[in-house]
Amino acid sequence: MSWLIKVPSSTSNLGAGFDSIGLALNLYLELEVTRSDKWEFTPTTDSLQGIPIGKDNLIYQIADKVATQFGREDMLLPCAIKMKSEIPLARGLGSSATAIIAGIELANLLCDLQLSSDDKLQIATDIEGHPDNVAPSLIGGCVIGHYDGKVAYTKVPVNGVTFVAVIPNYELKTKDARAVLPGEFSFKESVQASSVANVSVAAICQGDWGLLGEMMKKDHFHQPYRKSLIPHYDELYNYLSKEAHGVFLSGAGPTMIAVVDDNKVESIANIWKHDFPDYEWLLLQVENHGVEVVHQEANPI
Ligand code: HSE
Repeated sequence: MSWLIKVPSSTSNLGAGFDSIGLALNLYLELEVTRSDKWEFTPTTDSLQGIPIGKDNLIYQIADKVATQFGREDMLLPCAIKMKSEIPLARGLGSSATAIIAGIELANLLCDLQLSSDDKLQIATDIEGHPDNVAPSLIGGCVIGHYDGKVAYTKVPVNGVTFVAVIPNYELKTKDARAVLPGEFSFKESVQASSVANVSVAAICQGDWGLLGEMMKKDHFHQPYRKSLIPHYDELYNYLSKEAHGVFLSGAGPTMIAVVDDNKVESIANIWKHDFPDYEWLLLQVENHGVEVVHQEANPI
């Protein structure tokens, strides 16, 4: 008897939706969980080599925190967990949010917590501090959320576009990318910043990707500050913007994402890859389903 936990990655912010807008993408973290006599995490993909393999693994730590929160830590019995991931670490594609969701699902499963989806989202957001990556990984699709200690959110459909991720070969820690952000905004600047975000939300809801692209350029919240940490930012932004509806820094970066119509993405991306061969290029689709937990008899991953 084992369980499979499959969590989609995510991109977040989408320009001006800082800490608020995110969408699930079709790259996954997968765990195969079986009972064992000690806690052991075994990475089966190169991207996970070097991660902690015992109780210092983030997934165990989240599961333990959640089990303790509900007074069920005695039910969190040891498991052997094989981990497989397609998500590059520390690149702005929500890898740590997938670990948080996996840890919550693990505690829910082993400790029989019977958490609802909204319970899980509240717990995940309390841990992460903002819902923009954890919400899409949990429930799929494009999620627009607010958090002030309590989460409010809505899920909106997204169709017809591909998210072309341009991934450099270095990591950028979210902590460092948040350290360059301003501590305060004037009233005038807040009005400007929030109106750009408001139009961005409306554009997503209408599927008006050109308008969203214009708003991505006008973001006040994070891109103007973070680009100083990303040497290729301006060159790539200007280059991709010639053909894409819009270009944005994925999460805290350093990955940049270009939004392109599904029916022309293959031909454009081939030219882009040729012109910038030093990056990893991924053509990603919105994943409309969130985390999946499956009980299985055998079938190791
Ligand atoms: N909204 C977050 C940020 C995403 O941009 O810092 C990464 O946690």
